[in-house]
Amino acid sequence: MAIKTVCVLGGGGFVGHHLVTLLASRGFRVRVPARRREDAKDLLVLPGVEVLEADIHDPATLRSLLDGMEAVVNLVGILHETASGAAESDKTRRGGFRQAHVELPRKVVAACREAGVGRLLHMSALGADAHSQSAYQRSKAEGESLVLGAGDDSWR
Ligand SMILES: NC(=O)c1ccc[n+]([C@@H]2O[C@H](COP(=O)([O-])OP(=O)(O)OC[C@H]3O[C@@H](n4cnc5c(N)ncnc54)[C@H](OP(=O)(O)O)[C@@H]3O)[C@@H](O)[C@H]2O)c1
Repeated sequence: MAIKTVCVLGGGGFVGHHLVTLLASRGFRVRVPARRREDAKDLLVLPGVEVLEADIHDPATLRSLLDGMEAVVNLVGILHETASGAAESDKTRRGGFRQAHVELPRKVVAACREAGVGRLLHMSALGADAHSQSAYQRSKAEGESLVLGAGDDSWR
C-alpha cells in the first residue's frame, strides 16, 4: 500500500523544510510537530501540511502525534549542546546530544511500534561512530544503532 501520511520530526529545520516542501508537492499529508509553531510557519501555507506545537519528548504526546501516520521521518539533531542551566524552564530545550540523538530515537521507536507505523526513516550523520572522540558522533552512533536494532527492516 502506498504511503500517504508522514510525520516529520524536526521538520522545521534545514533538511525538514526541503523534505516537507517536496512531500507536499507530491501530495502527501504531512504532520510537523514543532517546538515553536511560529518557527515553522512558512510550512503552514503548503497544501496538506499541518504544523503543531508539541513536546515530542513526552511519550504520550509523541504517540498521539503518530495517530493516522503511515511513516515517520526523524530529523531531530543538534550540533552543539546548550550550556548547562540554559533554558531550564523550557523542558523541550533541556538536555543535549543524549536527549536529541539517543533518548528521543528510543521514544520514536517505541511510539512507532505502539502506533503501528510501518516505515521509519531516521537521519543519522556521516561519521557516526561509537568510538569517536566526538560526543556528537558517539551519540549519533548510539541512536542509529538502536533504530537499526529495533528489528524492523522498514525502520532505518
Ligand atoms: N545538514 C547537514 O549537513 C547534516 C549533516 C549530517 C547530519 N545531519 C542530521 O540531519 C538532521 C537534520 O539536520 P538539519 O541540518 O536539518 O538540522 P537543523 O536545521 O538544525 O534542524 C534540526 C531540527 O531538529 C529540531 N530539534 C533540535 N533539537 C531538538 C530537541 N531537543 N527537541 C525537539 N526538536 C529538536 C529543531 O527544532 P527547532 O527548529 O525548534 O530548533 C529542528 O527542527 C539532524 O539529525 C542532523 O544531525 C545534517
